[in-house]
Amino acid sequence: MNYTYLDCLALFGVGGAHPGGLQLTKEIVSEEKINEQTALLEIGCGTGQTAAYLAQQFGSTVSAVDSNNIMVDKARQRFSSLDLPIDIKLGDTENLPFPDANFDIVLSESVLAFTNVFSTIPELKRVLKPNGILLAVETVLEQPIPNAERDNIVDFYRFPQLLTEDEWLAAFKKAGFQRIDSTKYQASLEQIDEQHASDFSLSEYIDDELLEILETHEEITKQNIDKLGFRVFRCS
Ligand SMILES: C[S@@+](CC[C@H](N)C(=O)[O-])C[C@H]1O[C@@H](n2cnc3c(N)ncnc32)[C@H](O)[C@@H]1O
Repeated sequence: MNYTYLDCLALFGVGGAHPGGLQLTKEIVSEEKINEQTALLEIGCGTGQTAAYLAQQFGSTVSAVDSNNIMVDKARQRFSSLDLPIDIKLGDTENLPFPDANFDIVLSESVLAFTNVFSTIPELKRVLKPNGILLAVETVLEQPIPNAERDNIVDFYRFPQLLTEDEWLAAFKKAGFQRIDSTKYQASLEQIDEQHASDFSLSEYIDDELLEILETHEEITKQNIDKLGFRVFRCS
């Protein structure tokens, strides 16, 4: 069986599987006006840690979508155990199961890079209300790297593309976002080590291959600490 990195996250049930984890999420959303009237969508919600936080903290109407059925099951269990009325759907960011102009805020934490951004970003724009905001934490290629290194990263994560900051900005602009703010997020090696420690929802059977995949992810992260960066994009 050849598992992908995303299979591995799903089977371990890693919550907060984005740089900065829930702490960064809290900082990002604290900058926004969110209340009971806000309609929020979290794409690529994984096990639902962020969606649950948003519903609990703000009492907003929260929807969540993920294309991995293990993730959706684990998120559904989380919401039901916390008695949170979150609308969770199995679905693809490139063809979202929501009507046009439906959300005030769409949140994406380490998701777009795994999708075809040229299909996904226009979909996010479509489901956002005209004054809606897209908040995205994403991987950025910080400097040119040899093709072999690039291929290694892209193949391991199965990224359809690996964009520089300027390429991200161009993709958001092309989809119709007019104002795009980009903030650099720099994780230290200690933060990377600590990051996945707190919130797991393990599947019953964990193959040894999955541990190897996690190790490879950590090696790639550490080897490329100056080359693979992160940005918080705020697009309106
Ligand atoms: C790195 S994980 C991040 C999960 C979550 N946002 C978090 O921070 O814990 C990426 C997530 O995006 C989901 N995903 C990847 N491609 C997707 C797509 N095309 N449509 C919907 N979800 C997708 C994966 O299943 C996975 O749950």
